[in-house]
Amino acid sequence: MTTVYLNGEYKPLSEASINVLDRGFTFGDGVYEVIPIFNRTIFRFDEHMQRLENSLKAIFMENPYSSSEWFSIFEKLIETVEVSEQSIYLQVTRGVTERDHDISLAENPTIFAMSRPIEKKDLSGGINAITHEDIRWQYCDIKAITLLPSVILRHKAKQQGAKEAILIRDGYITEGAASNVFICKNNEIFTPPKNNNVLPGITRDLVVEILADHKMAYSETTITGEELLNADEIWITSSTWEIVPVTQLNNMPVGTGEVGPLWQTVNKLYQEFKSGYCH
Ligand code: PDD
Repeated sequence: MTTVYLNGEYKPLSEASINVLDRGFTFGDGVYEVIPIFNRTIFRFDEHMQRLENSLKAIFMENPYSSSEWFSIFEKLIETVEVSEQSIYLQVTRGVTERDHDISLAENPTIFAMSRPIEKKDLSGGINAITHEDIRWQYCDIKAITLLPSVILRHKAKQQGAKEAILIRDGYITEGAASNVFICKNNEIFTPPKNNNVLPGITRDLVVEILADHKMAYSETTITGEELLNADEIWITSSTWEIVPVTQLNNMPVGTGEVGPLWQTVNKLYQEFKSGYCH
């Protein structure tokens, strides 16, 4: 039985319900976070809380809770799940109002959180990805619940036997439909800089931190579609998938078509960081 948190109460998932006039339902008016729990420890809690704060601010909402309040909600939810590797999903919407775009009508946000076991998929052998035009809006740095473009993009990838769509806007890579992107060329690692076209991924930032700490050659710089196609290695990163090598792009091998040596090194460093992590 999954226990969830909804507006101050803990209850079984089957008993949790919201009003159909919730603006999350009618407008997609809200933001979310996905936070991994490794060994029952909330991974990069402060970073996720900062991103939540930024997302809320960008949509003109106040954070309903302090970090310590969020922390104790998460701790309670984590206890209710048997396995130690979990992911917390939290969502804050602008709450229930009549269906009117005007946000000043909103008084009480709807606050929802749950923790679920992370579905362990072994993607270390590499995945297929496609490239696609970035069809999303221009506030991609907000972790908005309004995910229809990403849903469509992931479906298009699936239709072509791939797991992710790598997005290209005006000739440059932005990110994946639900991940950030790294490429390697001649032993150097590149990832697009953070701006309004990219979600500031917590995993991305950690990978960049690891690269800097280990004095590996990397650069946060624009990457053209052409450079992507000619990369020696491509990786995508996210909280639930961690670092995944892309070995086929648009049905063509990436580099040798095998998982690359830089991925092996960086993934090992990431796993070491994870195993030594305590909040
Ligand atoms: N998605 N970019 C987009 C568009 C994303 O949706 C995600 C994560 C990321 C990676 O961010 P992070 O490393 O903080 O997970 C980048 C989550 C996992 C989701 O929507 O389920």
